[in-house]
Amino acid sequence: MTAAAPMPHVMPTYGRLPVALSHGEGARVWDTEGRRYLDALSGIAVNTLGHAHPKLVPALQDQVAKMIHCCNYYQVPLQEQLAAMLVERSGLTNVFFCNSGLEANEAALKIARKYGHDKGIDRAEVVVFEKAFHGRSIATLSATGNPKVHAGFAPLVEGFVRVPLNDIAAMEEVARTRPNVTAVFLEVIQGEGGINPARAEYLQAVRALCDKQGWLLMLDEVQCGIGRTGKWFAHQWAGIQPDVMPLAKGLGSGVPIGAVVCGPKAANVLQPGNHGTTFGGNPLAMRAGVETLRIMEEDGLMANAAKVGAHLMAALRRELGELPGVKDIRGQGLMIGIELDRPCGVILSRALEAGLLLSVTADTVVRLLPPLIFTEAEADECVALLAPIIRQFLAEQA
Ligand SMILES: Cc1ncc(COP(=O)(O)O)c(C=O)c1O
Repeated sequence: MTAAAPMPHVMPTYGRLPVALSHGEGARVWDTEGRRYLDALSGIAVNTLGHAHPKLVPALQDQVAKMIHCCNYYQVPLQEQLAAMLVERSGLTNVFFCNSGLEANEAALKIARKYGHDKGIDRAEVVVFEKAFHGRSIATLSATGNPKVHAGFAPLVEGFVRVPLNDIAAMEEVARTRPNVTAVFLEVIQGEGGINPARAEYLQAVRALCDKQGWLLMLDEVQCGIGRTGKWFAHQWAGIQPDVMPLAKGLGSGVPIGAVVCGPKAANVLQPGNHGTTFGGNPLAMRAGVETLRIMEEDGLMANAAKVGAHLMAALRRELGELPGVKDIRGQGLMIGIELDRPCGVILSRALEAGLLLSVTADTVVRLLPPLIFTEAEADECVALLAPIIRQFLAEQA
């Protein structure tokens, strides 16, 4: 692998691999040296439609030529169009637009606090989870359940009560002891935490408890939403609805976007003057969202995510499931984690050398988040590239 030029003027917030990606097509990308890779990462669950999608590219070119940004002093018809599409697909009622996952989560946390204030709770608390990831702003990192993300940023924002995932008794204990709680905030499938799904019965029990207590159920679908699991939103597998649902990543298929979709309990909590963002809801991002959802539907990409995801999961289990050192292979649709019994960060660079883009998260989990256009043949290729790397890695370290 030829090393790409280093980046001495960019702040060192990421440990970067020595490759610069220059262009892509479908689930393939090329680096500046002309090497080709299979993309099983989608820029961390962002490139829903893969790269250079033949329907998305002309739509975005058209939008750039018409208008990129105007600001929220004016009506933005594309905002209403995308909001209506999200409302129809979620069964919720209203949407606030922003530009990223952490911004969507900040808005959700502001809603949780203001919802409490409006009921006379001055110091609202939000229930959050071990191993959760919600972003890198001061409030969202405080909600995050990873000490490495907290380190160096004290004092953290107060008002969070942390519980383990899938433990309804712990949540009931919170209900008995914490009168200031106004919301429960969780990822339906924890992404950065290692592909940890909230069980359907657990989500149903949490929904019932929120109803009983008058709490908002806020589901962070930034990573697991937008068709990735085979339904529009991952919570739909459990047959429940949230009150607040932050979205981002895959919604714009690569154009930065965030959204908070709310149901009737939460939709009118924020009033004029309570919240805003300059870029939020700009015409380019809105057009990207509208076209992403439309193309997903036209091309049957949710069914594809379910089908190819099941195929990929089966192949991974067949190839790796019995291997000592492989603790679990889990996930849903095209959101899959292979948990090893030891830290395995080196697999990232070995996969890159083999021509495969993926990620390693929570130290021990190899994570696959391919674009929703992934084919069964590409899934087979992914397994053919990955399985020998994992086998070799485990053999070396045994
Ligand atoms: C579940 C979840 N929430 C929030 C975020 C933060 O999103 P962003 O990086 O766009 O701020 C992420 C990013 O990985 C995420 O996975």
